[in-house]
Amino acid sequence: MPKHFLMCRPDFFTVEYAINPWMDPAAGADREVAIRQWESLKTAYEELGHQVSLIDPVEGLPDMVFAANGALVVGGGVYGARFTFPERAAEGPAYLNWFAERGYRTQEASYVNEGEGDFLTLDEVILAGSGFRSTHEAHREAQEFLGRPVVSLTLVDPRFYHLDTALFPLDGRNIAYYPGAFTKGSQAVLRHMFPDAVLAGADDAEVLGLNAVSDGTHVVINAEAGGLQLELKHRGYQVIPVELSELRKAGGGPKCCTLEIRA
Ligand code: ARG
Repeated sequence: MPKHFLMCRPDFFTVEYAINPWMDPAAGADREVAIRQWESLKTAYEELGHQVSLIDPVEGLPDMVFAANGALVVGGGVYGARFTFPERAAEGPAYLNWFAERGYRTQEASYVNEGEGDFLTLDEVILAGSGFRSTHEAHREAQEFLGRPVVSLTLVDPRFYHLDTALFPLDGRNIAYYPGAFTKGSQAVLRHMFPDAVLAGADDAEVLGLNAVSDGTHVVINAEAGGLQLELKHRGYQVIPVELSELRKAGGGPKCCTLEIRA
């Protein structure tokens, strides 16, 4: 089943503020390299038969490349993002307008949430992260608007500040995740719900290997996450490694650059 993604070219990408432990403004990042790496991610999706739509990047919003944070789109309903930090606040309306202009049913959020960064959609449930960015109130608001059960999980390690840095859906029913990013209680919830999950180790998590995108057959994943790639191959997945090291300097990987549009 081909998917439809929204992406944002990193034309104004920089690392000029630090809102997560990956970001070092003194070290910065190379925009030309970031653009080249981002183009290869887009090409990888297109070669897999997925459709990629683009939103215009906005000058002064260096993190706008991380489209996953822009909204949560389920069943044609678009739940808007409301960012934690003022540096990213203007991205929320920019993404919501993109959808509104195209006739989607949109809902502005009353509570802080960072879109698909913290909401991951499976067939029956939406898994939702909190602890660093998105709030429980937003989890409830998303459930009410989208009409899908939302299961709240709590993140504990600041390096894994969004749910999508520690967990990704393999398909509509199963996931891969790094247990160390979650509270004991949330680990127990995940074990209960997904006894067959792929468990990743610290090495793979630390290169943002869990920030991957699976279409149920192919997994687009950071090139450096070797152990996890091997395990995915054993499970029968086709692994598509991508090099996004420059975007990792802002704390992002393939999934962060990708907002799924579920019509
Ligand atoms: N610099 C961005 C931030 O800290 C990175 C966002 C990464 N996106 C994601 N979906 N994890 O907000």
